[in-house]
Amino acid sequence: MLSYKDFGFNLTSTETYSLIRKYEKPGPRYTSYPPATFFNNSFGDKDYINLVKDSNRNSPENISFYFHIPFCPQLCHFCGCNTDIMREKSFIDKYVDAIVAEFETVAQHLDKSRLISQVHWGGGTPNSVSMKYIRRVMEKIKENFNYSGNCEIAMECNPAYLTKPQIEELASIGFNRISIGIQDFDPEVLKLINRRPSLLPEEKLLDLFHEKNIKVNLDFVYGLPGQTPDSFEDTIKRAVKMQPERIVTFSYAHVPWVKSAQKILEQYGLPDAQTKLGMFENAYKAAFDDGYEAIGLDHFAKPDDELSLALAQHQLHRNFMGYCSRESTGQVYAFGATSISQLWNAYGQNCKSPKEYIDAIKTKGTAIEKGYVMSGRDLICNQVIQEIMCNNRLDLNAIAKEKTMNVSDIENILNFDSASLNPFIEDGLITFSSNVMEVKPIGRLFLRNIAMVFDPLLTGKETNYSKTV
Ligand SMILES: C[S@@+](CC[C@H](N)C(=O)[O-])C[C@H]1O[C@@H](n2cnc3c(N)ncnc32)[C@H](O)[C@@H]1O
Ligand code: SF4
Repeated sequence: MLSYKDFGFNLTSTETYSLIRKYEKPGPRYTSYPPATFFNNSFGDKDYINLVKDSNRNSPENISFYFHIPFCPQLCHFCGCNTDIMREKSFIDKYVDAIVAEFETVAQHLDKSRLISQVHWGGGTPNSVSMKYIRRVMEKIKENFNYSGNCEIAMECNPAYLTKPQIEELASIGFNRISIGIQDFDPEVLKLINRRPSLLPEEKLLDLFHEKNIKVNLDFVYGLPGQTPDSFEDTIKRAVKMQPERIVTFSYAHVPWVKSAQKILEQYGLPDAQTKLGMFENAYKAAFDDGYEAIGLDHFAKPDDELSLALAQHQLHRNFMGYCSRESTGQVYAFGATSISQLWNAYGQNCKSPKEYIDAIKTKGTAIEKGYVMSGRDLICNQVIQEIMCNNRLDLNAIAKEKTMNVSDIENILNFDSASLNPFIEDGLITFSSNVMEVKPIGRLFLRNIAMVFDPLLTGKETNYSKTV
């Protein structure tokens, strides 16, 4: 298994820094392929419903449900999520009515013998609304579907609103995994990003969840004002001591042209790329020293975690809800404003404004604003990009065999020229031989750049993405 020492040299050395300077450029995050920037408005409600019907006959056979609650009582200035500052109760009532109605529309087209392997509540802040709303939707699911034996039922929670009775309620509804958005323990950092501190001590929260057999992910963000490599190391050391099942350290994505509140952070000074790398390295060390393993660049899990096991067998997947194993991966049917459904061959995204979403559901039962249907060629590119981003490798022979094609056919579809890998080989980031590419540990820092070589949709003039490193 990988150890941080396998990076082979000091991440904060001049050598690594010059690599960062070389490869740091705007590029897709590849949480989907094609990226959401390619979704188009010619895809509408009818297309979506037809594809939902068709999805019953395709794999993955499992069902994943995603519910989006956009509401937050206060806007954190670093936030890159789709949020809506808290509305009055009557508006939330209407929003949840719309979610239930959208669920009923889609559920009538789904084959009820398919099992649910994932339910995910994201936001915004789903735990800032009354649990009665969540219970209502979860009961609707239970009336219509059966869960797989190891179904993951998860929610993203902001600790500023987590109370003991709420944790008890989450357990009684059936939640078995909670992501707690800590971001940083340091109250000064939280103040600079306009974020309320945790209501209860974070250690206490973890104990309360564990008492209920609920697994916990702790989410952190590095690259925020007020953070230093040392302070972030302290943060992750404290996290590791708490022994959550997973630790997630997101690199702060600064996109003020999309999220105008992020501009406010610039006045406090954002850490530069090298300082950020120091934070990443310290977090990596702290997690490794305590026996966590790296999943992709930003997740850490215990060796017996299903994600670690899937990675070891090159079977790790990713959807909009995060990493998943073969067992938990389902086609994603998403509900709520801005949510993205991810069927085997298509994406469909709902309109962004909660008000428009409520109106659309009232009149049509669905609220699709845009989407993308993948061609056979796109599906191959999707598989290739996913393989690189999740499993740090690519075996073109295996993909050609699976598709009963020649490797040269696959290369043509990808518009791939092996010479474009030379800079990565020369910089010691990958190996490529007999059509098999392996990303070296240090190369993981540049996964997005490596994946971009295999992306035929890129024009070379991308500017509206966050930086790749
Ligand atoms: C839907 S969000 C937040 C859930 C919940 N509202 C909270 O604040 O804890 C899920 C996670 O995305 C991460 N995140 C949000 N904005 C980000 C940004 N600009 N860059 C990187 N990660 C970000 C945070 O770690 C956050 O916990
Ligand atoms: S970070 Fe979480 S709580 Fe803060 S604004 Fe974003 S979604 Fe809301």
